[in-house]
Amino acid sequence: MSGQCVCVSDFEKEAKRVLPKAVYDYYRSGADEQSTLADNVAAFNRWHLMPRVMRDVSIVDLSVNVLGHNLSMPLCVGATAMQRMAHPAGETATARACKAVGTGMMLSSWATSSIEEVMSAMTATPGGSGALWMQLYIYKDRELTLSLVRRAERAGYKAIFVTVDTPYLGKRLDDVRNRFKMPQHLRLSNFSTAALAFSEEDYGSDSGLAVYVANAIEPALSWDDITWLKKHSHLPVIVKGVLNGPDAVQAVHYGADGILVSNHGARQLDGVPATLDVLEEVVEAVQGRCDVFLDGGVRRGTDVLKALALGAKAVFIGRPVLWGLACQGEEGVVALLELLKEELRLAMALSGCRSVSEVSRSLVRKVDFTSRM
Ligand SMILES: Cc1cc2nc3c(=O)[nH]c(=O)nc-3n(C[C@H](O)[C@H](O)[C@H](O)COP(=O)(O)O)c2cc1C
Repeated sequence: MSGQCVCVSDFEKEAKRVLPKAVYDYYRSGADEQSTLADNVAAFNRWHLMPRVMRDVSIVDLSVNVLGHNLSMPLCVGATAMQRMAHPAGETATARACKAVGTGMMLSSWATSSIEEVMSAMTATPGGSGALWMQLYIYKDRELTLSLVRRAERAGYKAIFVTVDTPYLGKRLDDVRNRFKMPQHLRLSNFSTAALAFSEEDYGSDSGLAVYVANAIEPALSWDDITWLKKHSHLPVIVKGVLNGPDAVQAVHYGADGILVSNHGARQLDGVPATLDVLEEVVEAVQGRCDVFLDGGVRRGTDVLKALALGAKAVFIGRPVLWGLACQGEEGVVALLELLKEELRLAMALSGCRSVSEVSRSLVRKVDFTSRM
């Protein structure tokens, strides 16, 4: 790694330097004009922090219980596909880093390391209290889908995050231009056939992944599929991809054990709101009936703090982990996670919060842009 990375964007600059262009483009891109991609990040600047002083912040406790696990901080690693494009150890490096730092990791269905390999990597790592959760895409082939669930259960994963915002793949222009497909030596490790492992020779002139999704992923998803999934698994089911109160109410009604407010890192429908802007609506709709999480655009410790103040139990990060992985594998992800942890610790101390339970709604105030005109 050339030079010291002192913030998340330093990791991104370095990752851009070392990654092949098509890989960097796939990781970085949002859908279409990418207006939501920028807004996910910008939304955090629309909220001010309102710190309290004189509170003895000599000790600040970041620990939190997420889905029954005591974690060292309310920031976890979200599902991002194909991590071996960033580093040869891919998802196994990320899992080891999460364990070392004491946080949770959501493994993508489209990982380039198998469900079992990633669990072994985490289990074998000494230190912290990691947790592994499985992100699930529902395939048209329901038996195949349930086989992923059963493998995750058997391996010791503790929850299923079912992604509900991808009946088709959003249009990511660079991936179309690059005719994105995986490097030949890689495959989606949880599948045996070339068609399911995204390792066919030719996907024509489109993004290969868009073709893959159109062929394999269930476009007919409905709320009854949450009932179906819960019937077939004893694990908690968290619905990933909710962006408004009415859908949050539906998710609770159909038995969701948690909701992840997410626009898929702005990679699906461009023009949807930034996740931070809809978090409060979802939290109010849920009325404490299940935990609410957020991902999208979290890049600084103060971002985490603002999301917690608006009601998130914890947040997830996607791209930043890929930048850490590209820079320096496991060590890079540890460095990235430790950086964000220390940023959060400082932000909490400077806000007068000694523990996560002291972070309350009064800590944030929406910036009044009209008064500046
Ligand atoms: C390269 C990349 C791959 C992703 N792969 C998946 C995936 O396989 N399954 C899924 O549910 N979400 C996937 N996501 C979305 C993330 O889980 C998460 O919602 C998003 O990255 C959060 O936004 P952030 O990148 O701004 O932190 C992916 C995102 C990126 C950037």
